[in-house]
Amino acid sequence: MKPAQAQLVETVRQRFGDKAVTTDADTIAPWLSDWRGRYRGAAPAMLTPASRDEVAAMVALAADARVALVPQGGNSGMVGGATPPADGSALLLSLRRMNRIRALNPESNLAIAEAGVILADFREAAERAGRRFPLDLGARGSATIGGLVSTNAGGTQVLRFGNMRQLVAGVEAVLPDGSIHDGLAPLKKDNRGYDLNQLLIGAEGTLGIVTAATLRLAPGLVSRAVAWVGLESPAKALALLRAIEAKTDAVESFEILPGPVLDLVVGHIPGTRAPLESRHPWHVLIEAVSIDAAAEPPASLLERLLGPALEAGLAGDAVIAASEAQAEAFWKIRHSISESERAAGPAVQHDISVPVDDMPRFMIEGAAEAERRFPGTRAIAYGHLGDGNVHFHVRAPHGMDAATFHAGDAAAITRLVHDMVVAAGGSISAEHGIGQMKRAELERLGPPARIAALRAIKAALDPRGILNPGKLVTLAPEAATP
Ligand code: FAD
Ligand code: LAC
Ligand code: ZN
Repeated sequence: MKPAQAQLVETVRQRFGDKAVTTDADTIAPWLSDWRGRYRGAAPAMLTPASRDEVAAMVALAADARVALVPQGGNSGMVGGATPPADGSALLLSLRRMNRIRALNPESNLAIAEAGVILADFREAAERAGRRFPLDLGARGSATIGGLVSTNAGGTQVLRFGNMRQLVAGVEAVLPDGSIHDGLAPLKKDNRGYDLNQLLIGAEGTLGIVTAATLRLAPGLVSRAVAWVGLESPAKALALLRAIEAKTDAVESFEILPGPVLDLVVGHIPGTRAPLESRHPWHVLIEAVSIDAAAEPPASLLERLLGPALEAGLAGDAVIAASEAQAEAFWKIRHSISESERAAGPAVQHDISVPVDDMPRFMIEGAAEAERRFPGTRAIAYGHLGDGNVHFHVRAPHGMDAATFHAGDAAAITRLVHDMVVAAGGSISAEHGIGQMKRAELERLGPPARIAALRAIKAALDPRGILNPGKLVTLAPEAATP
């Protein structure tokens, strides 16, 4: 450990006690690599503050001593954003002890949750109060509010409710000099210049440490229905979505996956099985909900809308979950895709968006182009069709190990995919962020005005580069080579 780091650790221990910091290698080890196992870092200590004021004191000490900090929540991020640098030059700052829901008010549909509150716990607390927090994703058992805010997470309900940016009504954060930004008040109107809350959302821990957020809740559900539909193509899936959207706004999720991904899940995740007996090239999962007992039940609504779609040939086959357990089983398939992919072998992942209307073309032509240019690879795209975001993954040729693939064609494949995304007017990061995984690609693809503005904001708020160095954007362009 460098002397400045050791001094900081000692001061933190003296001021806040043994619980506020650890240097125990076994305790720290699980937090040094990312969920997918792509990145491995090192950190001689992990700071574990229990309150906003402890975070502020620790960041102020780090700023004075020029010790870099890597904020971390549940470590479920997909772009290596919470993995510290490999040279041990930064300390981890875990927010997991800050796990209090400070307030939850069903009348105003607002709650204040600390950064370390786990998404599943927060969703349950909202449900106990007769409300919902309408953001869900496969990592709900580990992802934290601080991480979700800092990545501007999306998930499977963006179609209806937007991503975190739309669900956050206020942010409390510690800025890189240790000062506190208290932006928790849920003000509908506030024109005091630049919106610091929005700047901190999606900043990936590079501009501040989020310590709490005010979150919007949605009305509780009376009932929901989940349908599984087999169909021929992404184009038919989009046509089905448009047909449904023309008749109702009760649809909250519209997820697409190809047959091989369903096979992957069923093959790797115990207890899952294909919802339809017939086989189809593509599948969609649709969830419709009702918040009003007097309204048409979502199951009959979906039945009424899917009938004509089947007759018109938009859908090949469809089933509506007959029970809550079956609905959960359908969702388990969807939320287990990443886990099954992790078990299935090496791939390069791209979390991309293009305008929704262009997504079916992109999924088919993009996959064909990647496979043509890199023989033996298999490209698959699945995800949130309703909001124009799919996960476009290219799997290594059969039998190739991860090290060979990543040292070989992986980077060129990523450049090809991202070039196609840019040509389609899309984004190389729809919901996972940039982290360390996409920093060089962000730098390459710009556009320059955007990169210069990001860098200027970083330099203005964190001139010493204390917070999450090497992630999202670096202070100097030449430091951006991965
Ligand atoms: P971490 O991984 O710990 O950190 C993520 C980033 O935020 C890092 O840059 C970190 O430095 C920073 N950070 C964390 N906490 C703070 C804080 N308090 N203050 C400042 N910076 C902080 N994401 C989606 O958007 N949609 C999905 O559908 C989705 N599905 C997923 C499914 C699975 C199975 C998995 C494993 C992940 C999935 N993710 C998805 C990615 C991930 O869950 C999200 O990015 C989530 O927001 C990360 O939260 P976390 O608490 O784990 O953050
Ligand atoms: C999902 C993650 C990968 O949608 O974002 O499953
Ligand atoms: Zn996703």
